This record gives sequence, structure tokens and C-alpha cells, in this order.
Amino acid sequence: MQLRFARRVANAKKSFIREIFKVLGQKDMISFSGGFPNPSSFPIEGIKAAAIKVLDSDGANALQYSSTEGYLPLREYIAKRYFARFELKVDPSEILIVNGSQQAFDLISKVFLDIGDTVVVEKPAYLGALQSFGFYEPTYKVVPLTETGLDLVALKDALKDNPKLMYVVPNFQNPTGLTYSNENRIAIADLLRKTDTILIEDDPYGELRFKGIDHQPIKSVLDEQTILLGSFSKIVSPGMRMGWIVAKKEIMEKLVIAKQASDLHSNYFTQRIITQYLMDNDIDKHIETIKAMYLKQREQMLTSMKQYFDPSITYTQPEGGMFLWVTLPEGVSAMKLFESAVVQKIVYVPGDPFYTVGEDLNTLRMNYTNSTPKEIDEGVQRLAKVFNEAIKKTNSR
Ligand SMILES: Cc1ncc(COP(=O)(O)O)c(C=O)c1O
Repeated sequence: MQLRFARRVANAKKSFIREIFKVLGQKDMISFSGGFPNPSSFPIEGIKAAAIKVLDSDGANALQYSSTEGYLPLREYIAKRYFARFELKVDPSEILIVNGSQQAFDLISKVFLDIGDTVVVEKPAYLGALQSFGFYEPTYKVVPLTETGLDLVALKDALKDNPKLMYVVPNFQNPTGLTYSNENRIAIADLLRKTDTILIEDDPYGELRFKGIDHQPIKSVLDEQTILLGSFSKIVSPGMRMGWIVAKKEIMEKLVIAKQASDLHSNYFTQRIITQYLMDNDIDKHIETIKAMYLKQREQMLTSMKQYFDPSITYTQPEGGMFLWVTLPEGVSAMKLFESAVVQKIVYVPGDPFYTVGEDLNTLRMNYTNSTPKEIDEGVQRLAKVFNEAIKKTNSR
């Protein structure tokens, strides 16, 4: 018998991250590879109390089927928070609760993309989004990231043929940790306004700013054309798989149909628990605790890199979020050094999977939120051994 898979599956690539998971179980391994929040931040007691309260007060309803759009009080909460943070007016009817923002990529692609349609993405881009778009077989146009946001000359060029979608992560981007400046956001909106391109503004890390001041979402100056994504993964729990899509009515109608066909609705019991948790707890205080912890971890990583890394290695200095991006000297491949790093019991994510094309790149992503400061210092020392030696070898050739 022959398994006759669809072309989109045959073409789908295995994620390199899965390969990394295979070595993570090894004894004494330190990992800078994952995108995991620190589990010590999970509000276990608060969620437990909320679950009991929901079951005690409204158990039968909470365990029943519900609407595709999601639990209204939760959507009202999200809308209110946008207004409180940015004076951004969002009607709860413009919010769809989804299974993490990862589901949003799939639903948006399903609604907008025909084979070969163009999607503009950052260079480098979040690989989970690339994996999801990939199933719809688009053509990519890439726009390089700079310290202040997108390269506007490249963006102008990428928008020439009126692409269908554009995907960006303007706050503490995954993988680079970079944030778009206000000026860059406004310039992006000005360029997009001249097109029919729909902007997907993905913002799972925006609440995790531990330095500097918040920037307005691009949606606030490009309302009709923007689909804004949010998530509870990084501020409450990723395992609960709760995220949302903010989109205008016409788009929302299509997204709701796509979601209905996909899973009827997101886990209603979980929506009820998370809503109860948000009602009964001070989420801002909780987020402050997470930020204080991540800031310490980030400081340790920067300090250790400064101390141990060869000065030819450069890296971003994120003002929030969970990652930083390391650039090795030209010609030193982060992918080739991965095996040597595993031998030293340290792992990271080589840059390759974050690009739509290109191999043997000299970049890599490091996560600082899931190791203790002591582990971070030890892990950076192990990495320095691998990187500094490779640089010495390259220089002596
Ligand atoms: C930029 C970005 N978008 C979306 C996601 C997916 O988040 P969620 O857990 O809400 O699906 C992640 C997860 O790491 C991410 O880094």
C-alpha cells in the first residue's frame, strides 16, 4: 500500500526544535534553546482556586459546549485591558478566543491564503508562524530587521506587488529580542495604508517589558488593516492554550467560520478558569514578579557573555521578553557548532530555522528565562569554549 499524502504535508519540514528536544533529557544539560516561560511563575494556587470556584458555582455550564467566539466576559476583559494600556478601542465582538496565538496563524492563513500568495515576513522570523503559513504554500518576501525595527527600504520593495499578508512581532521579537521604535511603527503603517495587505501584529511578549517604556501597537494607527494577536501563554500559562485574535467584523466573520470547522470552539472550561483567575487576582502584580525574575536572568546572560565570549561575537540587548540573538563572526556556522555544544552539555537554537531560505548561518537564539542565573553563567562559559575555539580556528586559516 502506498500512503498518498497531500502535497502540503509532503513538503512540510520537520522542526529543528524537535531535534533539540531529543538531547534535552541528558544529565547536566543546560538549555538556552526553549521558548518556555519559567515554570516557577505559574500561578498554580490561583488557577486551582479558580477551577474549584467555577465548578462549584457553574459546573454544568462550564463543562458544556459553548460559542465559537469565546466566553464573553473573557473577551470583555481583554478589550478593557487594551483600553487601559493603550487607549485602544476594541469591541469584544472583534475578539475571537483561540488555542494560543499559534492557532491564529493557521486560521488566518486558511482564510486568506491561496497557493503561491505572498506573505511578507521579518528576517529572521518566528519559526512557529513560518511552519504554520507553510502548510498553505505561500511565497515569502523577507524584510531584514534592524535595531529599530523593519528596514523600510526593503519593506517598500516587498510591498510593491500588494502582498496578501504581512507578519510581524514588534515587541521583543522571537528570535531576536528586538523592538520596533514608535517612528518605525508609524512608517510601517504609512506604507501599508497604500496597499491591501493585511498586517498580522503578533504580540505575545508585549506585557513583559522590564526596561524602557511601552510602544503603541501598530493597530492603533492602522486599525482596519491589522489583525492583532495576544496570548496568556507568557503571562499566565502556555499549557492552558489560551490566546486571542482581534480583527475587524468582515475578517472576524470568516475567522469564526474557519474556527468552527476546525474545533467548534476553544476549551470552554479553560476559558472559564482563566476568566475567574483574572477576576480574583491582581494580574499586574503577577506580571511584575515575572518581569523581575526575567530581568535578573537577562542581566546574568549579558554579564556572562561580556565576560566569556570572544569580543568578535555580538548580541542584542532586549528590553523585555525571553530571548536574545547572537551573531558569530562571518563564516562561523552556528548549526555546525551545535554538535560540539551538545558535547559540552549546552544547547541553543541555530539561526537557520528562522529564515525562509539560507543555510550555514552565523546566528543563534538564546533563551534566558528557563535557567537559573547560576546555570546561565555556567552555560555561557560552556558556549564560550565552543565558540571562541571555532573563531580562533577560523582566524588561523
Ligand atoms: C512570536 C510568537 N508568537 C506566537 C507564539 C505562540 O504562542 P501561543 O502559546 O499563544 O500559541 C510564540 C510562542 O513562543 C511566539 O514566540
